[in-house]
Order: sequence, then structure tokens, then C-alpha cells
Amino acid sequence: MDLIRDDAIDPTPLAGKRIAILGYGNQGRAQALNLADGGYDVVVGLRDRSQSLARVEVDGLAALSLGDAVDGADVVMLLAPDETLGELYRSIEPRLKAGAALGFSHGLAIRFGLLKPRADLDVFMVAPKGPGSALRSLFAEGRGMMGLFAAEQDATGHARGIALAYGRAIGCGRAGLLETSFAEECEADLFNELAVVWGPVPEILAAGFDTLVEAGVKPEIAYMECVGELRLLADLIAARGIAGMREAISNTAELGAVIGGPRIVDDRTRQTMRSIMHEVRSGSFAEALKQEAGSGYPKLTEARRRAREAAVEQARLSLEPKG
Ligand SMILES: NC(=O)c1ccc[n+]([C@@H]2O[C@H](COP(=O)([O-])OP(=O)(O)OC[C@H]3O[C@@H](n4cnc5c(N)ncnc54)[C@H](OP(=O)(O)O)[C@@H]3O)[C@@H](O)[C@H]2O)c1
Repeated sequence: MDLIRDDAIDPTPLAGKRIAILGYGNQGRAQALNLADGGYDVVVGLRDRSQSLARVEVDGLAALSLGDAVDGADVVMLLAPDETLGELYRSIEPRLKAGAALGFSHGLAIRFGLLKPRADLDVFMVAPKGPGSALRSLFAEGRGMMGLFAAEQDATGHARGIALAYGRAIGCGRAGLLETSFAEECEADLFNELAVVWGPVPEILAAGFDTLVEAGVKPEIAYMECVGELRLLADLIAARGIAGMREAISNTAELGAVIGGPRIVDDRTRQTMRSIMHEVRSGSFAEALKQEAGSGYPKLTEARRRAREAAVEQARLSLEPKG
């Protein structure tokens, strides 16, 4: 499967189009600024009493209410938190012009039926594979971030072309775009969050830190070993792959990795991963997200509090430069 880059992408499906970005958070701000730098006609739609109004104005963009931003827009990107997109879509649907394109940066709202787009709309996704802050800083440096794209509903015959042109306009075409579907992107992304990078990696760093401290190692030393080296690993894997990373480290580190790694990630771990994949596909995680939002985010609030108070965070703070 080939990466599609700028030179193979026709920008004309977006030429002269008005693009409304709804939500000015991680992705909204980065995508809006990248589009504006490229000369596109961008407006930002914000909810009433939005926390982000001042930021949009300082950034020099036009801020409108959600409905006013949607009026007359050819492309409308839904860039608020996933669990809010059903309600957000229903509030703007009457103002979406016939044949407009509705864009997402994640497949969850469509894959798990939080909303059902009107039949006359094109529905597409461009999902940058990283945080908005990096999407923006890479773009400003003349580089880009890889992304996934998909066309889910092609009412006008232009949905795929619009998705590619949008991916190019926000800089993902500089690094390359891969074609997917909303379901594949959503399931793979949720699986990774639950079972690989975003869930287990921080847990294993903290568990390793706790084990060393319990064994009498000073917290600062334990932090530098278990947490501080993650960036080195990530940089090596990004530059050379897993095999190249192994070859770049000392024989001591490599033998340690070869003996220790499979003892931690064993058959039971793989079986748990399969169970998590099943849960993702069944929709039980999407349901949990809806319930969490509906009850005011109690689990996230508690997890953030515990993370701030954890010994590993105290060790990090004690290594921060003072003053
Ligand atoms: N985080 C990432 O970098 C990342 C990476 C890839 C894909 N994605 C996807 O990109 C999309 C946006 O995620 P995000 O992390 O950028 O979101 P986010 O930062 O949490 O979005 C915050 C923005 O959404 C607005 N907002 C919150 N609730 C709203 C509601 N009920 N109605 C209208 N606006 C609302 C906020 O309004 P205020 O201004 O009033 O606070 C703020 O402007 C999601 O589909 C996500 O999965 C995100």
C-alpha cells in the first residue's frame, strides 16, 4: 500500500471553497492555522461562551457562532471531542448547505453511530497521526505529519478528492497519506489507545519506577531509567524501526531486551489484547465514553488526580530546574 504525497494530490477540489472548523482545541487550531497559511478561506465556529474565543482572535482568524460558521461553508470539519459530535451535528444539520462536505479527524462518531449524516453530504476523514501541536509545528517548519484519509459517503462524486485535497492543505500530504475506512481507522486507533501506546506504555513506566523504588533505588535514578529513556527509544524506532533500534543499542541492552521483553509481554498479554480488540469492535468502549461524558467525566477526573499525586510524577518534578 503506497503513501500518497503532495505531488500525487490534486488540490483543486478545495480551491475557492469556504472551510468551517468547528472547535478550536488540539486539532481545530492546528488545522485552521495550517489552512489559513495556505491561503484557504477559513472560519472558526465556537460554542456559546467558548473558552477559545480570545485565542482565535489573537491567531488572527474569524470566529463565529457554530451555526453562522456552517452557513455557506463548503467543507465543515467537526473538531470537538468525539463524544460531543452527535449533539453538535444535530445542532448544525439544518444549516449545512446541500452537497457540502462533512469532515472528521477520527472515525468514532460514524463507526459507532453517534450521528447519521444527511444523504446529500459528502462524508470524509483526514486523521493526522499525532497531536495538533505537532501538526502545526511541523507545518510551520515546512514539514508535515503522516495521516489517514477515508471517504465514507460520496454524495457528489468528489468526497475522496476533497479528503485528499484537505490532507494536502493541512500538511499531511508532505509526509504521506494512507487510505483507510472510518471503521478501520477507528478500531485500530481505539485498540492502540487501550492496548498499546497510550494505555500500557505509561502504566509500564510507572510500574517499573515503583518496582525500582521498592527495591531501594532513589526515585530520581528510577525516573531517569524508566521514564527518561523513553524518548531515546521512540527516536531510535522512528529513525530505524524496531530491528534497527535493537542493532543500535549495546549488546548488554539488547540481550536484556531480548530476555526480559517477552516475559512481560507474554501469551497472556496477547490474549488480553485480543479481548480488548473484541471490546472495541463490540462498541462497549464507545458506550463507556458516552456514559463517562454523560456523568461529567468522573473516571477521567479521578485518573488525572491520581496521576498528579503518583510518586513517579513527584520524582519528575524534583528533577525540574528550580526557579
Ligand atoms: N488530540 C489530537 O491531537 C487528535 C489527534 C488526531 C485526531 N483527533 C481527533 O480530532 C477531533 C478533535 O479532537 P481534539 O483533541 O482536537 O478536541 P479538543 O481539543 O478536546 O476540542 C476542544 C474544542 O472543542 C470545543 N468543544 C468542546 N465541547 C463542545 C461541544 N459540546 N460543542 C461544540 N464545541 C465543543 C471546545 O470548546 P471551547 O473552546 O469552548 O473549550 C474547544 O474549542 C476528535 O475527533 C479527535 O479524535 C485528535
